[in-house]
Amino acid sequence: MRDLIIAIDGYSSCGKSTMAKSVAKLLGYIYIDSGAMYRAVTLYCIRYGIIKNSNVNIELLKQNLNTIDIRFLQNNLTNESETWLNGENVEDEIRKQEVASCVSIVSKIPEVRKKLVSIQRKIGENKKIVMDGRDIGTVVFPEADLKIFMTANQIIRAERRLLEMNEKGMQITINEVVENIKLRDNIDESRVISPLRKADDAIVLDNSNMTREEQLDWVMQKINQIEP
Ligand code: DC
Repeated sequence: MRDLIIAIDGYSSCGKSTMAKSVAKLLGYIYIDSGAMYRAVTLYCIRYGIIKNSNVNIELLKQNLNTIDIRFLQNNLTNESETWLNGENVEDEIRKQEVASCVSIVSKIPEVRKKLVSIQRKIGENKKIVMDGRDIGTVVFPEADLKIFMTANQIIRAERRLLEMNEKGMQITINEVVENIKLRDNIDESRVISPLRKADDAIVLDNSNMTREEQLDWVMQKINQIEP
């Protein structure tokens, strides 16, 4: 089979990264979590006082953008790719609530998107890549060989997210999780630049009632149908 670019976009808490990682592993491709890049820039902004009380100092951000270096390096113990920011492994740090609560503000900024999209395209130059996010099929790789748009019922997504959070010892109610998911969907869809939307040529995967194995089989079937 020829070398492919596979774009996986969709709503939050749909299992995009789990799916993208599994597909990349099966194909021997690189997996890139584009959301992690927006999270890393957000962490940088928090640390350097560029974002304070939900306000971004755009001038300071512009001055500093060139000093932000984001890479994905393989952890040889877990075999997972991890996010590094200016030489530091920030994989755990970027998943924390402090970053999560500011990332949608930072990911709206045109200069940030321009920089990250350019890095993402560079990483995809040699194809053999699975990238997940919100604008991969529409903006980053409009010429991707396979575009999947993942979605699932909001309540089902909330239940899955609640389970994950409970496993991490976080105490939160189902109603709070539902509200948070609704808010994030709204922010993702209503953003002026690169809002979340299905590319015209993307295939929808509604995984509300599917197991992980069924989803992976579904995607692999689509990959096998790609013309050589
Ligand atoms: O997938 P995630 O939840 O880790 O993404 C974090 C944030 O980054 C989320 O608010 C949406 C945003 N994002 C984006 O704007 N564009 C992408 N390609 C990926 C993520």
